[in-house]
Amino acid sequence: MITPTDKPRILTGDTPTGRLHLGHWVGSVENRVRLQDDYDCYFLLANMHAFTTRSEQPADIRADTIEIVRDWLAAGIDPARSCIVLQTETPAIAEMTWFFAMLLGYGRLMRNPTIKTEIEVKGLGDKYSFGFLMYAVGQIADILAFRPRYVPVGEDQIPHIEMCREVARRFDQLYCGVDPHTEDADYVSAGGVFPVPEGLVGRVARLVGVDGVNKMSKSLNNCIYLSDTPKEVKKKVNRIFTGRQSPTEPGDITNALFQYVEAFIPDEERVAELKRKYAAGDDIGDGHIKAEVGEAINAMLEPMRQRRSEYEGPSGEATVIDIIRDGTSRANAVAEETLWMAKEAMKLDFFPRKLALG
Ligand code: TRP
Repeated sequence: MITPTDKPRILTGDTPTGRLHLGHWVGSVENRVRLQDDYDCYFLLANMHAFTTRSEQPADIRADTIEIVRDWLAAGIDPARSCIVLQTETPAIAEMTWFFAMLLGYGRLMRNPTIKTEIEVKGLGDKYSFGFLMYAVGQIADILAFRPRYVPVGEDQIPHIEMCREVARRFDQLYCGVDPHTEDADYVSAGGVFPVPEGLVGRVARLVGVDGVNKMSKSLNNCIYLSDTPKEVKKKVNRIFTGRQSPTEPGDITNALFQYVEAFIPDEERVAELKRKYAAGDDIGDGHIKAEVGEAINAMLEPMRQRRSEYEGPSGEATVIDIIRDGTSRANAVAEETLWMAKEAMKLDFFPRKLALG
């Protein structure tokens, strides 16, 4: 069982839509693994959000939910320290979604650029469900239920974090009497229930896919997955397009291939050397560099492959579900406490309740 701690909290989550790729890793997941040392971490499976655009695919959503936990565990999320939280069994989140929906203007929500882009990219037109818009309010509750200091996310999520910060301030001003001139960092010490949390973007905000052009993204078929085999990784790295003709042609060290060199070759001196030679056209071919990049990625993924093997198959799935239950149980202790604090502030504290997972 996970033991409670006094460390400051972080909360983040993923919508289970498929396997994690290297873009997720450098954009956010690597950060999460690192933050486990110094923070009390909550990693949310936003399985309800998966229903906003795939409500007719419950079996796929369930399989994706288990699969993303395998990815997290493989990546190094340590269930002995961090909580893996199932959104649909954390009812305080759904309840707080109602409270926060009242503090957010409809127009404000529709101006959220992430929502706008999603409507465009997914071709939703004006056919999106009411629940689709609700997810943006729900995400505020996902976050604030844990009163976290930081929210490690990919760059695309920053507009959601901004909206969350606005709602935290509004709630604290409206129901806790916090002065609107209070500094963001001081909302809790000024009597607010909610801190104004900060987004934390990883070291590479936007990793280009192996097509060498677009952001790495499942729908564009340009991903290297954390669960790819060594052979698949090599093959995909070889696809990275640079347009360079010969090893003696001076190369462009801002191209896609060099984004990979910088992101995945850990030896900084070697990176500097490769850059120097490439820029000078000093007899160094793209094929050679791709081989080094492929090896570096495989070296990084190898321990993940090892860890993942513990969670494959039916017995692995049972272990995964146990881990989710443990994490969700502890998460509910925090979320229920937050809900009660919010209810007190809103004069909804008629009588307390106790929640138990089966
Ligand atoms: N919307 C996020 C995504 O698509 C997933 C998510 C749900 C999330 N709830 C969250 C991220 C809370 C951070 C915090 O990636």
